[in-house]
Amino acid sequence: MEGALCSLSQLDLGYIDLYLIHWPGTDGLDSWATLEELHAQGKLKAIGVSNYTPAHMRELMQSCKVPPAVLQVEYHIQTEVRKVCEEYGVCFQAYSSLGKGNLITDPVVLEVAKNCERTPGQVLLRWAVQQGVPVIPKSSNPERIKDNGRIFDFTLSDADMDKLSALDCGRKYLHIYFYA
Ligand SMILES: NC(=O)c1ccc[n+]([C@@H]2O[C@H](COP(=O)([O-])OP(=O)(O)OC[C@H]3O[C@@H](n4cnc5c(N)ncnc54)[C@H](OP(=O)(O)O)[C@@H]3O)[C@@H](O)[C@H]2O)c1
Repeated sequence: MEGALCSLSQLDLGYIDLYLIHWPGTDGLDSWATLEELHAQGKLKAIGVSNYTPAHMRELMQSCKVPPAVLQVEYHIQTEVRKVCEEYGVCFQAYSSLGKGNLITDPVVLEVAKNCERTPGQVLLRWAVQQGVPVIPKSSNPERIKDNGRIFDFTLSDADMDKLSALDCGRKYLHIYFYA
């Protein structure tokens, strides 16, 4: 309870639109019950989780009163957990779609970007969005922020989608991981 209340106080807000549990821990279900309480009080309008495995998701879905609105994970590594989200109707959201910037210079990404006359960032983000997966790229550069938003006016061909999907080599850009 303290973490969420502290966030509300620090943000100086009456409510937060979406609040996530960052990692599944040993007290995950207790933490979820606390978020459900704050959700019932209207202080958290939507609640969700991040970095949950299929097993964590199933455990939570079996005991929760309020199902998570969102699961946020590193999606360019394709994971079984997306199927679990589809099964339960949980929004599956991708972080680190640009590999923390590292995927921008990948030769395959550069080739696809050249083919469709887009930037590498745009094709990486479009790859996820074209599969119905929302993205949350981070940039401190105004031009890149605009660039990253221009991904709804083109479509990647099936061949380019396959090339980008084939990039999945299990590499994770966030180092602490335990995907099942
Ligand atoms: N739930 C979690 O556990 C979790 C974990 C990791 C991240 N996240 C969240 O996910 C969001 C994004 O993830 P992320 O920061 O890890 O990775 P990211 O969006 O894959 O990559 C961000 C990096 O890419 C660069 N970049 C952005 N747009 C670019 C472009 N068009 N061309 C070239 N370089 C570009 C940025 O540099 P510049 O700033 O210089 O543009 C930054 O160094 C953040 O909001 C973060 O908080 C959540």
